[in-house]
Amino acid sequence: MKKESSDFVVIKAEEDGVHVIGLTRGSDTRFHHSEKLDKGEVMIAQFTEHTSAIKVRGKSQIQTSFGEIESESRK
Ligand code: TRP
Repeated sequence: MKKESSDFVVIKAEEDGVHVIGLTRGSDTRFHHSEKLDKGEVMIAQFTEHTSAIKVRGKSQIQTSFGEIESESRK
């Protein structure tokens, strides 16, 4: 498996309407997918050939191989 597709990121929504947004790999960096999570829902995602960055909007717990971090609510 290629290194770029080996890292999983776990996102657990701590409020309704958390968005997990995938940004494209390559010279053109744009949104390609937005997934809406409600409170308590979990998304397990990878960096892939198509996804080089992940943006999270809203309050959530995020776990990666580098450690854990919390994203905060905008309110
Ligand atoms: N089709 C996307 C891809 O293979 C699916 C995906 C992977 C994704 N990781 C993501 C979408 C993270 C949003 C956020 O790259």
